[in-house]
Amino acid sequence: MLAYSGGLDTSVAIPWLRETKGLDVVTLTVDVGQPVDLERVRAKAEASGAVAAYVADAKREFADEFVVPALRANALYEGVYPVSTALARPLIARHLVAIARKEHAAFVAHGCTGKGNDQVRFDLSTTSLAPELGVIAPAREWRMTREEEVAFAEAHGIPVAATRASPYSTDENLWGRSIECGVLEDPAVEPPEEVFGWTRSPQTAPEVPQYVKLEFERGAPIALDGERLPSDVLIERLNALAGEHGVGRIDHLESRVVGIKSREIYECPAASVLVRAHQALEALILPRDVLEFKRSVELRYASLIYDGLWFAPLREALDAFVRSTQERISGEVSMKLFKGTASIAGRRSPYSLYQPSLATYASGDRFRPEMAEGFIYVWGLPARTWAATAPAPVAAEAPNPRPARRRT
Ligand code: ARG
Repeated sequence: MLAYSGGLDTSVAIPWLRETKGLDVVTLTVDVGQPVDLERVRAKAEASGAVAAYVADAKREFADEFVVPALRANALYEGVYPVSTALARPLIARHLVAIARKEHAAFVAHGCTGKGNDQVRFDLSTTSLAPELGVIAPAREWRMTREEEVAFAEAHGIPVAATRASPYSTDENLWGRSIECGVLEDPAVEPPEEVFGWTRSPQTAPEVPQYVKLEFERGAPIALDGERLPSDVLIERLNALAGEHGVGRIDHLESRVVGIKSREIYECPAASVLVRAHQALEALILPRDVLEFKRSVELRYASLIYDGLWFAPLREALDAFVRSTQERISGEVSMKLFKGTASIAGRRSPYSLYQPSLATYASGDRFRPEMAEGFIYVWGLPARTWAATAPAPVAAEAPNPRPARRRT
């Protein structure tokens, strides 16, 4: 049961699995929002020797069951990466396992190499859902160079795309686009404009800001500029809007699960806007201690996704916490998109803890400042007691004897 993208590696994997392992190969291609023509990919899989080729459009499932929970958790790995590539892996694995069972497959296979995170995610997701299935990663086993791979493909009648000139490796889904390799491998070098596919350069972005209004219900985005939309459609539209304004470019020196530091470029326009807007709404609605505690949960949650532990009990437990914090996260945030930035222009919610009568410095103030004195007296009690019981200061130590200056 091979996760098939239609690219060179997974196409070569089909005859490779048959010849070196003696296996029949069934493929599955899942649309999670990458540019893909499922019918063409199905035909290519069959032409490459697959005994059956499945395709699935899982954009809505991806948005509702993976992206929205990650958004509710403001999941940003190492504080910056919206875990876009990472999030799609458990979904693909779930589909692989379902069809593997239907087809009575013995193994799940994927096209990841042995240096990245994605192998960890596919392997762990598969084994968590179906411990009885083995996992094979052909590209982790074969010792083919790029040229040998192309030769292998040609010898097996697999069409090698003529436009394979790009030195970059990319991965795309609704939540973002990842770019690596080529000149990007030198972290001292600024990414050339050609690596970007979803975002305009802030330099050439429109000179006039654009406002977008986002409506949230229980922490999930439900409407864009007043139009109610399914989450996958909303995210796609927002990617286009924010990308046009150069929003969502991320340059990260990332710590991989396998211990390697790598330089990663991301384009995550919708994710950048939505996470910021969602955080703004939470700041309006949640009490300070919940916000503070949630922040530590968020970091852990992002790491779990990154590390391939989506189907682990801790993720489910953290989800229960996050979900309970989202009951009141409903309201509207308006965001201003302008030359690479997405800033908060305004927010409102029926559950806002912001009370004008408490916050104002103008008339209508209901806060009782005379109560502050008593509060501070009690609040400061430990500090005062600590200071009052301080030990007597130790006499200053004699300075170090210095060697006498030699006279000449
Ligand atoms: N470093 C990212 C991650 O581990 C993205 C990897 C994407 N793969 C690629 N071929 N660019 O989530």
